[in-house]
Amino acid sequence: MCGIVGYTGSKQAAPILLDGLERLEYRGYDSAGLAVRNGDALAEVVKATGKLYHLADKTDQGRSLPGTCGIGHTRWATHGDPSLVNAHPHVSGNCSGSGSGQVESDVVGVHNGIIENFTELKEKLLRHGYAFYSDTDTEVVVKLVDYYYKKYKIGPVDAITRTMVRVRGSYALALMFKDYPGEIFAARKDSPLIIGTAEDASFLASDVPAILKYTRQVYYIDNLQVARIAPSSVKFYDLNGDEVTLPLTEITWDAAAAERGGFEHFMLKEIHEQPQAARDTLNSLIRDGKIDLTSAGLTDDTLRSFEQIDIVACGSAWHVGMASQYVIEDLTQLPVRVELASEFRYRHLPIRKDTLVIVISQSGETADSLAALRVAKERGAMTLAVVNVVGSTIAREADHVLYTLAGPEIAVATTKAYSAQLVAMDALAVQMAYVLGTISNEQYGHFIEELGAIPDKIRRVLEDKERLQWFSSKIANAHDIFFIGRGLDYAISLEGSLKMKEISYIHSEAYAAGELKHGTISLIEHNTLVIGVLTQSELFEKTISNMVECKSRGAYLMGVTTNGNFTVEDSVNFTVYIPKTDEHFVSSLAVVPLQLLGYYTSVNRGLDVDKPRNLAKSVTVE
Ligand code: M6R
Repeated sequence: MCGIVGYTGSKQAAPILLDGLERLEYRGYDSAGLAVRNGDALAEVVKATGKLYHLADKTDQGRSLPGTCGIGHTRWATHGDPSLVNAHPHVSGNCSGSGSGQVESDVVGVHNGIIENFTELKEKLLRHGYAFYSDTDTEVVVKLVDYYYKKYKIGPVDAITRTMVRVRGSYALALMFKDYPGEIFAARKDSPLIIGTAEDASFLASDVPAILKYTRQVYYIDNLQVARIAPSSVKFYDLNGDEVTLPLTEITWDAAAAERGGFEHFMLKEIHEQPQAARDTLNSLIRDGKIDLTSAGLTDDTLRSFEQIDIVACGSAWHVGMASQYVIEDLTQLPVRVELASEFRYRHLPIRKDTLVIVISQSGETADSLAALRVAKERGAMTLAVVNVVGSTIAREADHVLYTLAGPEIAVATTKAYSAQLVAMDALAVQMAYVLGTISNEQYGHFIEELGAIPDKIRRVLEDKERLQWFSSKIANAHDIFFIGRGLDYAISLEGSLKMKEISYIHSEAYAAGELKHGTISLIEHNTLVIGVLTQSELFEKTISNMVECKSRGAYLMGVTTNGNFTVEDSVNFTVYIPKTDEHFVSSLAVVPLQLLGYYTSVNRGLDVDKPRNLAKSVTVE
């Protein structure tokens, strides 16, 4: 989704803003823009469609935009097509054309989020003589701020809080006012925004990597708060306009973690970081041979108090939920429901008070997951967030937080965060089973040992990547790919299929292998690739039979199975073996070849692996 940056200090703002926007590229965008102020002069606005280098070219890498205070934006179109006129920043003044140049305006701003009642607000502003040049909800919000600013004449914070009371939806807003040179005002509701502070400079951004080069000191501005930033001061206000104090947080992760580090793409780097992500996450949860979830506030008594688990998430995080369902149910005998957050939030599901609702999210900002969390809390359930981004909204609003330690994930297609979520959920399942008494002491020890071995086994799977690279070159022109499996293997298939389609743009579907005969098998043609996941010994023969049924209708077969299951080669054209592990934890290993297959297929097709079309890293709108 959109990315926002802001800078005010003693250096030239435009190159810093462009650098920040580049680091937010992973969020997905289709146009970009800057507004920079040179002292008291009006803000100069420059926009470009397409990739960020167009904006950099247009501004001579920022050099042609003098000034030490500015805001920047990458836009992922929601209201209005991805055009110059709809690109941000937007201005409060009347202007023709794209709104670029020095437009006589009191307010200029950028926005991430969606203003749901923008039509109603636009009508109000039209009645008050405002004219609109774009189709965006952002222009409406900038003009509404301008309206209150002029009507009440109390100042920017007051104009912004009045606007916040009127708008419905989500926003991270950064605004500059003509009468306040050197200052940027920001506001937030349900869209990510951080404020950074350094000596003689202040920053704002949608995410930490944008400003990490300049500072590690950040404030996490809360929902419905306003920030006022100047080169040497940062102030926060609540909706009443009263000043509030926020804690300063030090970012501890390594800046190099957000760089490509010699890999061709972030996705490949992050695939290779999975052993570390899994190890760090497990090390934070396992101490002296025991799982300790007290850092998440989950004591044994708390864990014993639930009769039902609901897991809510989107995309790959939902696939983690699907895999965890099998593990938790099998180990604890507790009923587990796994729901898509976008459905859960509107479904009026009965939620018992003795339910633990687990929201899984890498970003901690996914709009549907956040809404689902709030629904669960309203209905009286206890909530646990399994989140990667420290200080994110979901992490802050959940009753308990279990952090995955995957570090910053940049590629849109998640890999290491997914793996870290899997092992965190596995550890939770084992600990719950232990305190509920559904597993013995011996089994507890065995599971912890097996979990501890996962990171090294992931590393071993990665050693087989050349074979997958080779195989991907054979399937680069495929039209359809089917991923099938039963039980946990079905959950892994879901993730394999998503990885393939989101970055290679090849149509792919995941099916529970037993379902094929109920419709889908009619799609199998000569050379259709069917990838079977075959890690569950109890279900192995069943899935092989389903694969053979496809083969006899012309399909080409690939299998992912555990080392030692060599009979698979009697039926399957290409086989990938993963190390033996306890079958509950196999997802962490079996997913890796499927990630690599998606990655290499995308590379072979010459696509933008890290920033696939139409997608955003963090989906902060509905
Ligand atoms: O940040 P989240 O984990 O809440 O994001 C959820 C999904 O948007 C995300 O997993 C998405 O499906 C990825 N593109 C998958 O690779």
